[in-house]
Amino acid sequence: MQATVLSKQSPVDILTFLPNFTIMQKSSTVHYPISELIRSRRSIRHFSHQPLEQDKIGSLFEATRWAPSSTNEQPWFYIYATKEQPELWNKIYDCLNEGNKIWAKDAPLLIVSMARKKFTRYSVENAHAIYDLGGANSFLSIQAVELGLQVRQMAGFNLQKLNEVLNIPVEYELSVVIAVGYPGDPENLPENLRLRELAPRERYIQEEFVMNKTF
Ligand SMILES: Cc1cc2nc3c(=O)[nH]c(=O)nc-3n(C[C@H](O)[C@H](O)[C@H](O)COP(=O)(O)O)c2cc1C
Repeated sequence: MQATVLSKQSPVDILTFLPNFTIMQKSSTVHYPISELIRSRRSIRHFSHQPLEQDKIGSLFEATRWAPSSTNEQPWFYIYATKEQPELWNKIYDCLNEGNKIWAKDAPLLIVSMARKKFTRYSVENAHAIYDLGGANSFLSIQAVELGLQVRQMAGFNLQKLNEVLNIPVEYELSVVIAVGYPGDPENLPENLRLRELAPRERYIQEEFVMNKTF
């Protein structure tokens, strides 16, 4: 659809323009039974200062090992830093957007996720590398819930700076940075973030994205 600047339209133009928009219906309730881990996962911004046990960090990455991937290539790669490693942790934190820094400052664990762009066995691009990384990150997110943790993924960071400070080889493509920790108290967040944190979560209803016929 072509982008149109609504504010420059006359009221009549707006009326002719509006039918091009589809209003998609959302709901805050779970309509069918789902796994308790999926139901309990949420991208929190209120992290407690409680440090993470090393074996829990091991379990997070173990979960990614068992994610599916195209030709079983397993193209995901991670660099992590705990708050007990302030030099590395700060290198990652300093690359986050200002809006993310506000709440990510309390996260005891930051993970930089990336994908190997070419197959290890053939010297060609792996078109599904980022897809597979996303799947692995989802496994990590769900495993986190099982461990009493939550994660919030971030695309909001300075890509060039993060590549530089972590010395990322050209063979890898950076994806999201993941903040991980035990849930803290939302009351410690600034007012605007606290309200967003406590607002009901909305999702498109299935009728908006599932169908049992051709387009
Ligand atoms: C690829 C990706 C990028 C995201 N980037 C950010 C970000 O930069 N800052 C942020 O606060 N949340 C970010 N999020 C979190 C989403 O806003 C969050 O997943 C979404 O609002 C749904 O909420 P839920 O995960 O609690 O269901 C990102 C999530 C994903 C998957």
